[in-house]
Amino acid sequence: MDGNGRWAQHQGRPRHFGHIKGARTAKKIITAASDMGIENLTMYAFSTENWLRPVQEVSLLMRLLAKYLQRETKNLIKKNIRFTIIGDLDRLPHDLKIAANQAIWATQACSGMNLIFALSYGSRQEIAETAKALAYKVKNGDLDPDQIDESLFSTHLSTYPAPDVDLIIRTSGEKRISNFLLWQSSYSEFYFSDTLWPDFSKQELTAIINDFSARDRRFGKVKPHHEQLTR
Ligand code: FPP
Repeated sequence: MDGNGRWAQHQGRPRHFGHIKGARTAKKIITAASDMGIENLTMYAFSTENWLRPVQEVSLLMRLLAKYLQRETKNLIKKNIRFTIIGDLDRLPHDLKIAANQAIWATQACSGMNLIFALSYGSRQEIAETAKALAYKVKNGDLDPDQIDESLFSTHLSTYPAPDVDLIIRTSGEKRISNFLLWQSSYSEFYFSDTLWPDFSKQELTAIINDFSARDRRFGKVKPHHEQLTR
């Protein structure tokens, strides 16, 4: 969800104005994704690197997220959306931790879309934490190093049991992955949109998903000969 700051700047408004509009866009897109039958939606709301922003901006984002979660929990339940979080929750302010835990608890029985907020999230940190958890299991005698393979590693990532990512959309014209779901995106499709996040719409999401559906995903393999002929 990139481009809130630039969107506000273009309107001659302070950056926080962009974040407030960005939160509204997030609500629209979450609803649209759920209505479209998407099973898992992960939103990169705050990265480990975002802590380096000015204190006032960080604190506004934290307050905005806490308020948003408090306000939206009942709508998540109504839409049967199950909410979870990935990231270093210990670094979050008390209010946000309470609001997040409340939303997680209140939606745990929901069986529709899984909505994952990446908050204070960094993928390298997640991978290092996973390696550490496995190392402790080995140290405690609960795991043989020979049992460690890709599939076991995946089950120790914070996103588990969500599957690998099919499609990553980044807005605002930036063409980087910025420490997001590095392991889980090994075979993802990428879509880079020039739209600034506050202007992102359901129509654009639909167009991107249509584009994604037409892509030829081979996962490193070659298509069987008969399929090559019919394409
Ligand atoms: C990137 O725009 C956006 C963020 C760092 C925060 C994302 C947060 C929101 C969309 C608002 C809260 C979200 C929810 C779901 C309640 P930027 O500030 O990096 O923009 P810039 O690159 O133009 O400066």
